[in-house]
Amino acid sequence: MPRMLTIEDVELEGKRVFVRVDINTPVHPETGELIEQTRLEEAAITIRDLPKSKVVVGSHQGRIGRPDYIGMEKHAAILAQILGKKVEYIQDVYGPAAKEGIEKLRNGQVMMLDNLRFTAEENQEFKPGDAGKTIFVQRLKGHFDACVLDAFPTAHRSSPSIVGFADILPTCAGRVVAKELRSLERIFAIEKGPYVTVLGGAKVADRIEAIDALIANNRGDKVLLSGIVGLLFLKALGRYYGDLDVDGEQKLVPRAKQLLNDYPETFELPIDVAIKVDGGRRREVEASGLAADYEVLDIGRRTVDHYSRLIKGAGTVFMSGPPGAFEYDGFSEGTEGLLRAMGSSMGTTIVSGGHLSAALHKLKIHESIDHVSTAGGALVQYLAGKRLPLIDALERAAVRWEQ
Ligand code: 3PG
Repeated sequence: MPRMLTIEDVELEGKRVFVRVDINTPVHPETGELIEQTRLEEAAITIRDLPKSKVVVGSHQGRIGRPDYIGMEKHAAILAQILGKKVEYIQDVYGPAAKEGIEKLRNGQVMMLDNLRFTAEENQEFKPGDAGKTIFVQRLKGHFDACVLDAFPTAHRSSPSIVGFADILPTCAGRVVAKELRSLERIFAIEKGPYVTVLGGAKVADRIEAIDALIANNRGDKVLLSGIVGLLFLKALGRYYGDLDVDGEQKLVPRAKQLLNDYPETFELPIDVAIKVDGGRRREVEASGLAADYEVLDIGRRTVDHYSRLIKGAGTVFMSGPPGAFEYDGFSEGTEGLLRAMGSSMGTTIVSGGHLSAALHKLKIHESIDHVSTAGGALVQYLAGKRLPLIDALERAAVRWEQ
């Protein structure tokens, strides 16, 4: 377990405490509502443990240009319900309204800043020393007495709010970070091969990075692909004619080709997929020659069966990102089928990301999984043995601020 300070190690009573959480939550593409609240419930555990502080909650939400790039008003309302107390939402990050809001806080009160990614710097990665010099940190540092880092799902991003305060303010780990690291340490003690990784979802560049790291660290015996990353690899094999360029995915086709070429035994691709037809109904088709106008929203049943067999035969199996758009009626079969296989696998099982965690709760198989993490990309990198900037920041802070 990395050496870091926790809430008990830092004087937080009566202090203005910046709590960097990750309550980045899936947003329903049509209604704009937050689809689930797992990360909010986890964040509330840390906030409840700061009953006599002036708590300033900060998180990012979505990515620029995506439909989930929204303000934090809805998050503040849900967090207030969970905490059973007022959470004041300020439509500002480091301007006058934010500063005034912080200075007005009394002990025990909680406020929430707006989406931290509404500031340019939070969308970039910085070296630790440079992060402390950003406008973000410079404008806010005089308004905080301490920082609690609890954004484990963002642990792989060296943005100012993650790495910028550790050398400037007493900084400790929140409950989510501590709990995740404890569980992962336990997992590392019992893990064994073969290592099966089940990757879905839409963050394609992150998935490629994860695949590289897993293979380099001998953690990628089998990689089962679905979601948009699955389509990318199908495209690399000439089996999908659609356009992938939502977020620069098209550029990654040559990389996918190369991976398939270099590691032909590693990758499993969908055999069949479910597409949306008239009236929003599900239709299953072979995953070969997929037409450009097909709206592919899930993996098909034969793929579910094939992947389920591989999951059940794994020594350690890690699943990140939903295989399909399970928020749409009729397209949750892939997600549910693979999660059920995870639940009945005899191997060590790790499921990551808010989407999948919510689905596990719905299916009532949460208890059968060895570790359910709120993190997605950060966890893949941690499992692949990479150093995470948030953990580095906490380790530096432990050396600097130990009292
Ligand atoms: C996540 O959901 O993985 C984290 O919130 C990080 O989000 P990001 O990949 O947009 O940085």
